[in-house]
Amino acid sequence: MSRGKFITIEGTEGVGKSTNIAFITQWLADKGIEILHTREPGGTPFAEEIRELLLSKREEIVDSRTELLLMFAARCQHLAQKIEPALKKGQWVLSDRFTDASFAYQGSGRELGFERLAELENWSLQGFKPDLTIMLDLPIEIGLERAEKRGEKDRFESEQIEFFHRVRNGYLAIAEAEPERMKVIDASGTIEQVQRQIEKALINFYEANKD
Ligand code: TMP
Repeated sequence: MSRGKFITIEGTEGVGKSTNIAFITQWLADKGIEILHTREPGGTPFAEEIRELLLSKREEIVDSRTELLLMFAARCQHLAQKIEPALKKGQWVLSDRFTDASFAYQGSGRELGFERLAELENWSLQGFKPDLTIMLDLPIEIGLERAEKRGEKDRFESEQIEFFHRVRNGYLAIAEAEPERMKVIDASGTIEQVQRQIEKALINFYEANKD
């Protein structure tokens, strides 16, 4: 049996990941592909506990390296216990965020740098990368305004606007370096316009990978 494919969706706050995850799921289902949904940080009971630690607001300042290592701790668990076994069985997997988020948020946003991130990625994931990444791109101000409406902010959502500008630039730098894997979608248009761009990326990917 052939190995499943691993697709991830990324972007800064309020870019519309949930709506578009539903669209991608339906598009693949129409092609006869049932996709396993998951998310980061999280995805397994243990990794979801790490998520709680990472997202909850607290008095103590969380050191950026602590934050980074916890992201990767959760990711190793997620990969070993959920993603890799599913892919081996031929199942396709869709994750709401993955390693690119660490490059963008911790590498660029927290200014830890891409080099240190790449070392950690190589050591812990041994070259494992998504087969396709959909990056929803939106001016920070618009995304934050949309995210505001969702209620109480978590530890990341409470960051200053400069942080999110660095995160967005981090994502765009990855896309520039890996244009084949990471597709940047302009998320500022109507739902139909956004989904037409996603569909184009999915068609190309599906045509190249169907067996
Ligand atoms: P979510 O709100 O999309 O569920 O993501 C949770 C937060 O975690 C979001 O603000 C981005 C952040 N995050 C990182 O900072 N680094 C990572 O590696 C991941 C996966 C998420």
